Amino acid sequence: MNQTNIATKPLFEPFTSDKLDLPNRTVMAPMTRGFSPDGVPGEDVAAYYRRRAENGVGLIVTEGTGINHPSAVSGASIPLFHGEASLNGWAEVVHEVHRVGGKIVPQLWHVGMTRKKGELPNEEELPVGPSGLTLSGEQATEPLTEAEIVQMVEAYAQAAVDAKRIGFDGIELHGAHGYLIDQFFWEKTNKRTDRYGGDFVGRTQFAVEVIEACRRAVGPDFPIIFRFSQWKMSDYKAKLANNPDELARFLKPLVEAGVDIFHCSTRRFWEAEFAGSELNLAGWTKKLSGKPVISVGSVGLDGEFTSFAGANTTSLDGLLKKLEQEEFDLVAIGRSLLMDPEWVKKVRNGKSDDLLPFDKKALQRLY
Ligand SMILES: Cc1cc2nc3c(=O)[nH]c(=O)nc-3n(C[C@H](O)[C@H](O)[C@H](O)COP(=O)(O)O)c2cc1C
Repeated sequence: MNQTNIATKPLFEPFTSDKLDLPNRTVMAPMTRGFSPDGVPGEDVAAYYRRRAENGVGLIVTEGTGINHPSAVSGASIPLFHGEASLNGWAEVVHEVHRVGGKIVPQLWHVGMTRKKGELPNEEELPVGPSGLTLSGEQATEPLTEAEIVQMVEAYAQAAVDAKRIGFDGIELHGAHGYLIDQFFWEKTNKRTDRYGGDFVGRTQFAVEVIEACRRAVGPDFPIIFRFSQWKMSDYKAKLANNPDELARFLKPLVEAGVDIFHCSTRRFWEAEFAGSELNLAGWTKKLSGKPVISVGSVGLDGEFTSFAGANTTSLDGLLKKLEQEEFDLVAIGRSLLMDPEWVKKVRNGKSDDLLPFDKKALQRLY
């Protein structure tokens, strides 16, 4: 029988919350893979997620998957979350994960203005965003109209309904990294003067409406995880909140709208978010919102993911200390799990020498 290694015990305590219980604290981070031809996840994708579940991952967050809007994703092999074929594919993913006792939520995604003109799967569709501005500030298209925003909100809610219908254990809304929801949050990409713009509380309005619509659609008991970040793919130094007070004001409307768990995306989990405290973004979010939080960023690796290079394995001691101090509740693991489906099992069994360094060739395959 497998025995939990004493040193890594904090990672293997059960997690309980109002709507979601998990056998341990490990979460597979959402990672775009591009292995779903015509937006349909197939058997290989289902087996890829099943391998993580059968090796002990507490919760799987799927790769970002496109809501029902023609310019939601960039690329023909990014999975979609609408249409019979794609939803059947996802139902099979859920079935495979549940069959081995795992839990899984889809990450609902719209890329907004990061989409380039002419990209598949709908080459003729233009990128859309709050003000039609790219992340570098160029005017590329017209701002979304209010009617278009209402439709977009409905598309998120429909995806939430479908997630529940096909058996997922909750949803995660992708509000991070400079994609659509984050483009509303960020002053550089949101210059609107209507109720979707203004100060940074005003700029949460789109997310609030998305969360409220999802909540109405799935009822009070279905978990809604919300992922956000300060940093953007185009600007690692960007900040939505410059201090704890601003972060509290940013989080409040999202909590009131119905978020159950915050997934606080950072590139290095050990970095303090604000001066004067060691708490990271997840730690501050837990403290200020009172909600459970997921931390993430270079767990077990010595190089962060946006360098797009390989990385060596490192000790988990710093992570375990923060977890033991209850700075955060759950830990998302990205590249380590992309490389090695058995990562969680090896850590639980104290086999740290067997952990695989991250090699970027793993991006080309579904290990
Ligand atoms: C190949 C790859 C694809 C990713 N795709 C997504 C995505 O679809 N959605 C998302 O929120 N984050 C995405 N991320 C970021 C990861 O979820 C995670 O936050 C990041 O890799 C840091 O964790 P790590 O250092 O453990 O890899 C991706 C990361 C990688 C490496």
